Amino acid sequence: MASIVILTGAGISAESGLGTFRDKDGLWTKYELKKVATPEGFARNPRLVHEFYNARRKNAVEASPNAAHEALARLEREMPGETLIITQNVDDLHERAGSKAVWHMHGQLAGALCAACDHRWTAPLVMSHTDPCPSCGAPSTRPDIVWFGEMPYHMEDIWVALSEAALFVSIGTSGTVYPAATFAQDAAQAGAETLEMNLEPSDVSRDFDMARFGPASELVPQWVDEVLKT
Ligand code: APR
Repeated sequence: MASIVILTGAGISAESGLGTFRDKDGLWTKYELKKVATPEGFARNPRLVHEFYNARRKNAVEASPNAAHEALARLEREMPGETLIITQNVDDLHERAGSKAVWHMHGQLAGALCAACDHRWTAPLVMSHTDPCPSCGAPSTRPDIVWFGEMPYHMEDIWVALSEAALFVSIGTSGTVYPAATFAQDAAQAGAETLEMNLEPSDVSRDFDMARFGPASELVPQWVDEVLKT
């Protein structure tokens, strides 16, 4: 298992031009979370939900990885098998920067999921709930995104990874959404050192041994340089 486990959130993609959720002008100040990011919202108005994710998919396709994504990819290249990224982000900027060990705990914009039979396939740029499932034909297509009230992906493997990590690093997340909000505590209880890198102290800053504050595009490359020098 990886010795360095890295949790990333919307803050790492902010400098690539993708909006965060809870900052001033964040997505949840413009859209009602309950309407676009819950199974109930999708049942009530699937068209609105698809409009929201179609717009985010377009933004993500047009964005490019920034220096923070690139530094994490370099860390993995130079320490093969020693790093794991657990991301809450639904964009693919880690992969496009070259990272391979990436688990998307909240799903991916690039994925489509059949609400009727759970079949998954690659999402087209523009999706509609009436697109037929390629497996069962049901017109119940949804984005492969984990909504509020749903179980995040990879959780069993994540608990194991946190319990075996020597260092847990959190980058660009506000620490307001569970279960990711407790990962620093979970890793620390199992013996890991913990480091937070964020624009400002998050809601769970006190759970970390060390903290660095500033833009991810500066902090992450500096930290990776330090790790690779030691
Ligand atoms: N560099 C580093 N951190 C940044 C930057 C930056 N350039 N810009 C913003 N941040 C920080 C903010 O200070 C904030 O603490 O990133 C954090 C973003 O927090 P949120 O908007 O809450 O995003 P996130 O923590 O990823 O949200 C978690 O909530 O609704 C959801 O499912 C969605 O996965 C998401 C989850």
